[in-house]
Amino acid sequence: MLFSLFAFLVISCQAASGVNGPLTTDFQNWLKINGYDSYDFVRSDYGVKGSYGGFTKTITKASKTPVIFIHGNSDSALKTSSMATGWDNTISYFSTQGFTSAELYATSWQDTNSLKAETRTHDCKDLTRLRKFFEAVLAYTGYAKVSVISHSMGVTLGRKVIQGGIVNGTDGNCNLGVSISGKVDVFVGIAGANYGLCGCAGTVGLFAPTCNKKNGFWPGDSCGGYTSSFCGYSSTPCNGISKYSNLLNDMNNSNKKEASYIFSTWSKADDLIGNSDIVWGRPTSLIPLSDGKIIYEKLTHMQSKENTAIDQYKMVTSKKV
Ligand SMILES: *[C@@H]1O[C@H](CO)[C@@H](O)[C@H](O)[C@H]1NC(C)=O
Ligand SMILES: *[C@@H]1O[C@H](CO)[C@@H](O)[C@H](O)[C@H]1NC(C)=O
Repeated sequence: MLFSLFAFLVISCQAASGVNGPLTTDFQNWLKINGYDSYDFVRSDYGVKGSYGGFTKTITKASKTPVIFIHGNSDSALKTSSMATGWDNTISYFSTQGFTSAELYATSWQDTNSLKAETRTHDCKDLTRLRKFFEAVLAYTGYAKVSVISHSMGVTLGRKVIQGGIVNGTDGNCNLGVSISGKVDVFVGIAGANYGLCGCAGTVGLFAPTCNKKNGFWPGDSCGGYTSSFCGYSSTPCNGISKYSNLLNDMNNSNKKEASYIFSTWSKADDLIGNSDIVWGRPTSLIPLSDGKIIYEKLTHMQSKENTAIDQYKMVTSKKV
């Protein structure tokens, strides 16, 4: 009896700890009135973990540049499992530094089923929905600019959302609208695959949709005399020789910054990207025109997001690394 009471207390403490959403009632009501209902930014299928952000009864306005978080493939806005750890650590840390839910915004995109990871692409459905989320947060908070912290596939999704323009997706074509880079103060990209993934080279890339050549992570299949198995080992950049995915290529060649300040971070021990982040001789996580970068030695792909909240905070607030 005593033991089960103790176990109950431990469990209820755990449930109460961590960060809980979803979007506040105030933001949910605003979204309804302003025509965003169909985008389901709340994601109540993940309970209190599907989304985060909004004003409350006591905090009725944002008093710092709002931050939008975009998670990676098979992750969720907040922590739903040991694999899908969301933005809990970052939001907890920002909260200790005076940020509130009025200034921190996240929604989940797709789901946490990692068996479906290889089916997910930079498609019209997700890009359009995330673009609407950006527009909603800007309008709701009334701020002229937001900042963005993104991880993994969230980096390239976020860059495209901001750059706007045409998406030639595997789910059809769409136009995201004009660039909103003037409305983004700081963009932090953690462990993104801006030049594709070597794991997508060769025959894999021909079968996994996430690797496709139009809007996937196709890194190009050759570089000079090298074939795909050298993708992570070739030490000389092969700009212009290896033809990577159209969407990634167009984003790079636009030659425009997505924000006033761009910071790229990655780890040499990234277990998903591999080969110390090198894809055909260039660090794939280095966003073009970055103002600064942090390279970690020992973090895994997920730890690069989970264990770096202090750095993320510094980049967003002091605009330097
Ligand atoms: C994208 O699709 C549009 C409409 O079908 C087409 O006009 C355009 O050429 C395509 N762009 C690329 C880069 O494939
Ligand atoms: C990226 O774009 C820049 C500027 O347009 C270009 O010089 C560079 O070769 C491109 N890099 C890749 C990998 O395409």
